[in-house]
Amino acid sequence: MSLIIENLHFSYGNLSVLNGISSYFEDSTFYAIIGPNGCGKSTLLKCLYGYLDPSSGSILIDDKNIKKMTHKKRATKVSYVAQSNDTGFDFSVKDIISMGRNPYIKRFASMSEDDIHHIYTAMDKTSTLAFKDKSINELSGGEKQRAFIARALAQDTKFILLDEPVSNLDINHQTEIMNTVKSLSKNHKRTIICVLHDLNLAYLYADFVLLMDNGKVHSIGKPKNVLTKENIKSVYKTDVTILEDRNGDFKFIVPKI
Ligand SMILES: Nc1ncnc2c1ncn2[C@@H]1O[C@H](COP(=O)(O)OP(=O)(O)OP(=O)(O)O)[C@@H](O)[C@H]1O
Ligand SMILES: [Mg+2]
Repeated sequence: MSLIIENLHFSYGNLSVLNGISSYFEDSTFYAIIGPNGCGKSTLLKCLYGYLDPSSGSILIDDKNIKKMTHKKRATKVSYVAQSNDTGFDFSVKDIISMGRNPYIKRFASMSEDDIHHIYTAMDKTSTLAFKDKSINELSGGEKQRAFIARALAQDTKFILLDEPVSNLDINHQTEIMNTVKSLSKNHKRTIICVLHDLNLAYLYADFVLLMDNGKVHSIGKPKNVLTKENIKSVYKTDVTILEDRNGDFKFIVPKI
């Protein structure tokens, strides 16, 4: 099972944002998507989720074009956590997380024990149990982010798309979420496609890094091959120093100031 993108183009009106993206996402692998503000990362995720319809090109899951899947079928395969999650409705945290089970519940049926198990496991992995009865609108930015990640985990899909999932989180919750999604890819055969701005987090967690520039794939490969001084300079126009430990296993990217 895999996810294949072929020559994807997308425009908002006259503004062309994705300019021919092709890529292949292997099973059980953690991908980080990085690139400057406005280069098209969120737009790409929205196309992969089927929320936006590309103007040309195709997205195949298991050799099947996602356009040909019903919304419900697609939701059993791909979950998505948006960059910002604002809901106008006063749902409780538990209601929001329970929505992750909607694709599996037949019309007029109620939740099964299996559904409830997935909901509580997702709450446990994101430390959201403590505020499950609060309104989603009464949470801090980071708590809200964790609730929406829990909803995606409850959805129990093979592909998990995350748009800057840890941008509002403290180091403890950041590590908790990153370790959880890493373990889903390593131990539970999930494919994680995660937009990150923090290049060091991408270095630490990703099996592969996809570096985008201006709606195109600049480079894709292992972190050590993509996160080079040269690539960073060429795409971000920023000079960085890359510090290495003695074995070269761990690298740390710092901007030159
Ligand atoms: N709904 C929209 N309507 C019109 N233009 C949009 C819309 N959403 C995004 N854009 C534009 O498309 C381009 C790509 O936006 P996108 O959100 O995909 O970037 P991004 O790489 O996710 O950036 P960031 O790192 O800031 O989140 C930007 O120029 C943005 O202004
Ligand atoms: Mg974005």
